Parts: sequence; structure tokens; C-alpha cells
Amino acid sequence: MATIVANWKMYQPYDKAIAFVRDHKQELEQLLHPYSTLVIAPSFVCLDPMWQMLRDSRIQLCAQDVSAYTSGAYTGEVSAASLADVGCYYAIIGHSERRRYFGETNEMISQKIQRLFENYITPIICIGESKEDYKKGITRQVLEAQLAALMPALGNQEEFFCIAYEPEWAIGTGVTPDLEELEKILSWISEFVHENEHDDIHVSMGLLYGGSVDETNAAGFMTVPGLGGLLIGGASRDFQTLKKIVSLT
Ligand code: PGA
Repeated sequence: MATIVANWKMYQPYDKAIAFVRDHKQELEQLLHPYSTLVIAPSFVCLDPMWQMLRDSRIQLCAQDVSAYTSGAYTGEVSAASLADVGCYYAIIGHSERRRYFGETNEMISQKIQRLFENYITPIICIGESKEDYKKGITRQVLEAQLAALMPALGNQEEFFCIAYEPEWAIGTGVTPDLEELEKILSWISEFVHENEHDDIHVSMGLLYGGSVDETNAAGFMTVPGLGGLLIGGASRDFQTLKKIVSLT
């Protein structure tokens, strides 16, 4: 039982993304374990046409980002309410590419979390340390700073959310963390979140791993205790690869 999130980033052009879902949705759905979830995160423009194709299926739609604002004069932004209208049940936020290239801060991510909860969309919140931080051995401190900044938005929530641990040095590099190390980090994340939840709240959270997941290492990741699923970038664009990973669920 696992949640598999295919993050197509800006790789798949519109036509290819639509054709992928049209041609393969049935097979992917058949391979998916009854209690597992396959989530596809295409670019914004694909969401509505995909929703038309997927509304009766077990494949869920996910946005790759959302506006921190509710509505108004914010050129280029897409609101959480619009995402809900086109069938998005999930949204990835705080991805390291957005933090790095678009200056996304923990404060903006906190606002995005609130907009998503207001619209009953499950946030998939990415956290992770850089290669330099990893080399310096300060992974925990970095993760703690990221999580601590988000706890005011998360700690009083009864709605389910996901935290995706995505070390930057593993994204798109072919390098992945040691499974024992990953298990320790996931268990630390879980402890930290529960220690910092509000008194009368027990938050409900899934933990994902992302960074160079492919068909050769997915099975290994799935054995890690505490891991609820995988966030897959590059490898999820290839049908044969995604098919193999989905059949492991
Ligand atoms: P990758 O990306 O699988 O291509 O390493 C993962 C991600 O950025 O979510």
C-alpha cells in the first residue's frame, strides 16, 4: 500500500501529457493495489482535460504549485479554489526547485498550506537539505528549521497532509540516501511534527520520499518503515518505468 506521486515538472509538453493519460490510465489503474493511490502532477494547463479523463478513475490529480493568495490582482497565479474546481485532490508545495529558482520562502509555503486546507486539497509539502548541508552533517538542523517554520500552519490541522523528504542532492542526480539513514530521518520528522502539534490535535500525516526514484530502487524504498509513498520526477514520465513502480504497490 503506497502513494505514488508522478511529478512531471515542466518536462511533458501538453499533447504528450494528455496522450499519456488517455493511453495508459486503464493499465495503470489495473496495476495499482486496491489500497494504493497513483497521483499525477502535470502542468496547470493539463489539469482540466485530465480531470475529464480521470474523474471516474482511481488516479488522482495534483497541482505542482498554488497561489498563496485567495483571489485578486495577482497576475500569473492560480488559486486553490480553481484547482479544486478542476479536480485536484493534491498539490505539491515548497519543492526545492521552487524554493531555489522562484524564491519561495517558508512564509509563502505556510500561506499556500492554508489556501489548500481551505479548499480541501491535500498539501504535499517538500523539505530537504542541500548537498552542502548534507556534507556539513547538518541535515537535521535544516529540516528542523524548515518544519518549525511550517508548524503554525500544520500543527492545528485535522486534515491529512503529506511531508515529502527530498534531499536536494538526490533530485535528478541518480544518488539516493542509504535506506537506514532514510528510516531515521522519517522517524525523526514524524516525532518532530507530533511533538509540535497543538495540544488537542493529533495531526494525520503521510511521509513520502523523493529524489532519483526509479524502477531499480523503488522496491527498496518501499521496505523502509514509516514510508507512505514516493514522489517521482524524471522516471515517472516513462510509461514502462511508471508501470513497474505502480505494480510494486
Ligand atoms: P527526480 O525528482 O525523481 O527526477 O529526482 C524528484 C522530485 O524533484 O520531485
